[in-house]
Amino acid sequence: MTHTPQVEVEIPKLMDSHGRQIHDLRVSVTDRCNYKCVYCRSGESGALYSELEIGQYLRLIRLFISLGIQKVRLTGGEPLLRPGLLELVEELARLRTPGGGKLDLAVTTNGHLLPKLAAPLKAAGLGRLTVSMDAVDEIVFEEITRIPGSFKTVLAGIRAAKAAGFTSIKINCVLMRGFNDGQIEGFAKFARDEEVVVRFIEFMPLEEGRLWKPETVIPLPELVERISRVMPLLPIAARDVSETARRYTFADGVGEIGIIAPVSQAFCGACSRIRLTSDGKIRTCLFSQSEYDLYARMRMGESDEDLSAYIVAAVLGKEARHHIGEPGFLKPSRSMVHIGG
Ligand code: 5AD
Repeated sequence: MTHTPQVEVEIPKLMDSHGRQIHDLRVSVTDRCNYKCVYCRSGESGALYSELEIGQYLRLIRLFISLGIQKVRLTGGEPLLRPGLLELVEELARLRTPGGGKLDLAVTTNGHLLPKLAAPLKAAGLGRLTVSMDAVDEIVFEEITRIPGSFKTVLAGIRAAKAAGFTSIKINCVLMRGFNDGQIEGFAKFARDEEVVVRFIEFMPLEEGRLWKPETVIPLPELVERISRVMPLLPIAARDVSETARRYTFADGVGEIGIIAPVSQAFCGACSRIRLTSDGKIRTCLFSQSEYDLYARMRMGESDEDLSAYIVAAVLGKEARHHIGEPGFLKPSRSMVHIGG
């Protein structure tokens, strides 16, 4: 009898100094956005930061994957505005992780360009899609986005994505007391009617203006209570520890909603994420006060080995947690649109 020797492939890991393994990378491919959502944009400024070439993102993302990143989410700004996005998706969809697995590839978009781009994105190999949508009522929706006609366009975009073959489409809804909390019950129905997974996100202080107040946040327990009054909710078991959303189904088992509660029930202890900004800087936390300029090193001609060592060092400096709501809390140097969601 012959024995096939077991080949042990050692997969490098990105581990921070708090013992957390990092396997989730979010890459902003532009900080431009065609919406001016009241909770995000001041309504004035355009893009502030530069964009890398598509090939440069690709080189950097490959390095991250060689170090153990298994999931890449392309964001912005609005990523669908970025010329070359389809080529980037096509290249990324071909990559394998060091363990031989397929890369988990996702995009977060405001949905405005999905009527045109959903099918090409699917054809390029995109795995998963998240659409930001902060109201199910047309008037409230357009008061938030400040773009006339946006509601019908985004709804058409979600339907185009379904027709293109995307399944389990996620809808992100940032809840703000006094703005869109009247939409909660409508969203529960929307999740079931449109067969999408709605995820309510607690509002974080990441806006360009100064809208955030503790009172504006709708905390998880209040939200569960409000939905349960109209439709009883049943918790679904978490798939893994770094899952950000608490998931629920309805009593009849049809539909799913999730609640992401970074403010009232912070999940920093299980954080597995880092970010690359559109101008090639590593951010180890949404609320980081400093960044690591990976692109500057690439531009200086550093080798893959040196760039990898820089990534490993940046991850080691990842903050233990954020300090939202604590005395002395400082907003990060960039707002959400310039960081990448
Ligand atoms: N707080 C919480 N979520 C936010 N998003 C944008 N700004 C904020 C904020 N201040 C959401 C977007 C998008 C996701 C990436 O983050 O709506 O869906």
